[in-house]
This record gives sequence, structure tokens and C-alpha cells, in this order.
Amino acid sequence: MAAASVRIQILKANASDILTDLDLSNDELSYLLDLALEVKRAPREFAQSLAGKSIALLFEKPSLRTRLTFELAIKQLGGDSVFCEGPIGGREPLKDVARNLDRWVNGIVARVFSHATVEELARWSAVPVVNALCDGYHPCQALADVLTIRQRFGDLRGLKLAFIGDGNNVAHSLMLTAVRLGMNFALGCPEGFGPNPEVLAQAEGLSATSGASLEVTHNAARALDGAHAVYTDVWASMGQEQESARRTAAFRPYQVNAGLFGLARPDAVFMHCLPARRGEEVTDAVMESPRSVVFDQAENRLHAQKALLLMML
Ligand code: CP
Repeated sequence: MAAASVRIQILKANASDILTDLDLSNDELSYLLDLALEVKRAPREFAQSLAGKSIALLFEKPSLRTRLTFELAIKQLGGDSVFCEGPIGGREPLKDVARNLDRWVNGIVARVFSHATVEELARWSAVPVVNALCDGYHPCQALADVLTIRQRFGDLRGLKLAFIGDGNNVAHSLMLTAVRLGMNFALGCPEGFGPNPEVLAQAEGLSATSGASLEVTHNAARALDGAHAVYTDVWASMGQEQESARRTAAFRPYQVNAGLFGLARPDAVFMHCLPARRGEEVTDAVMESPRSVVFDQAENRLHAQKALLLMML
């Protein structure tokens, strides 16, 4: 229960798991951002919020930010975490892994190759499962990203976020999250590298409800026009390294350099989920520019994930 000096009551999410960005309602999403700011303002007030609770971190892929911010978030909220790296379900069926874990821990945070893995864990586990990145989504990243934009610009409604690059898991989560919050979203990508059509259709439905605009274009300049935030990600995600040469050729015109960044608003911020490959999707000058907020995003992983854990556990 929140202490008296905390300015916000902790409300629990309706969903039992966070597998995609859509598992939180619009109201819960807005509330999570408020809670994250409060947790950031007064971290000590939440120091016992997860006392007596344990969370398993299962990572099939490498991580710096996600692993450390979840471990720190859990520790700073008074809980315990255990970490397990490697294929989930390699030695035994996923349904058995899930039913072992839920006898020991109060929650599971999983970074996986396939979305089906988190779905299967959630299906068989009695405790909440949080998707810490899969091939389709990166919901925890999107939470930190919209928190970062809100800190910079205030009210999110009517702002424009331009994602330049691959229509990948990070783009999917940003698209779904941004339009629900009333942000206009444009994806500038090469032909053949657009978002998953099903995710795009979901985002179109959400944007129709919120009144946000949503556009996928192969014209980067068009995507950048009027943008408050310019976002990019690596051209070959984890597991796509063998496609690197083909992707480099296709994405080269979409590099966020001073010229491309200059097509956005003069006060636009540069964003990247990290790790970045300087000289590929972004130049060193843009990464290091005063308008780069990439390390604010990294910091906000901690605050946003604390808020998410408070709502889920
Ligand atoms: N942005 C992100 O998820 O970073 P890691 O891969 O280091 O966790």
C-alpha cells in the first residue's frame, strides 16, 4: 500500500499478463506514465512495495538495459529476482517450465525469440508474465519511450513521432502505444520492410478511435515533416544478422544523419532504443547532439518498469 507522502494510489492492471502493448487499457497506460513519474520523484516511498515477492527473469537473448533495469527495479522495490539465460523450454516443454516457475516466483519477465513462447508461458503459468522483447513487440521499451517524450514535451496528444527504419518489434510497440495516446505516428521505411500487416491494422483501428494520424511511407522526408521525435533502431535486429548486407543496402538512404534529422521540427528530439550502430542507422553527431534523449530513454526503462511491476504484482 502506498505511504502517505506518495501522491498517487497504486492501482492494479486488469490484465494478468503483458504480452503485447494492448494488454494495458488506454486508461491504464496513461496511469502507468503518471505512476512512473511518481516512482521517479519519490523512489524511497516504494522501497518495500514488492517485499516478499520474487520474479524470474528468463532471457533467451542478450541484454544490457532490459536485464539490468528489471533487476534494479525489483531490488529497489524491495523484491528479489533470479536470472536464467538460454533457450526456454530446450530441456522440457514450456508448459512444464511455466508450472515449475509459478511454484517459486510471483512473476516472470521473459525475453524470447518467438512471441509464441511468451504466450505459452502465460497460458500455463498462474503468475503474471511480462514480455521483455520478442520478435513482434517490445512493450517495456515503448513505455519508457512515451514517458521520455512526455517529460520533454508535456501532453502527448497531437505530438508527432517519426520512426525511420525497419518496421520491427520496436516500431510495432511504438506505433500501438503512440496512437492510443493520441500521438500522430509516421513510419518511414524501405519497400519490403514495413510493419506486420496485422499490427498495422490494429494500429489503424486504434488511431481511428483516438483521432491520431498514422502513416507508413517509403519517403523519409514525408515521415519526418513536423515530427517532434525522430526514432530509429538497428537495421538488422537480433537473429537477422545473416541479412545484414541486404538490409544495409536498403536502409542506407534512411540513416538518421544531420540532413535527415534537420527535416524534423527544430526542437525535435532524437530517440533510439539502443544499442545503436553509429555510422549505420544513425551518425555519431546525431547520437551525441544536445537533442539526443537516448540515455533519458534508458533511464526511463527503470521508472516505467517499476510502475509496470507495481501494477502487475
Ligand atoms: N533497448 C533494449 O532492449 O536494450 P537491451 O537489448 O540492452 O536490453
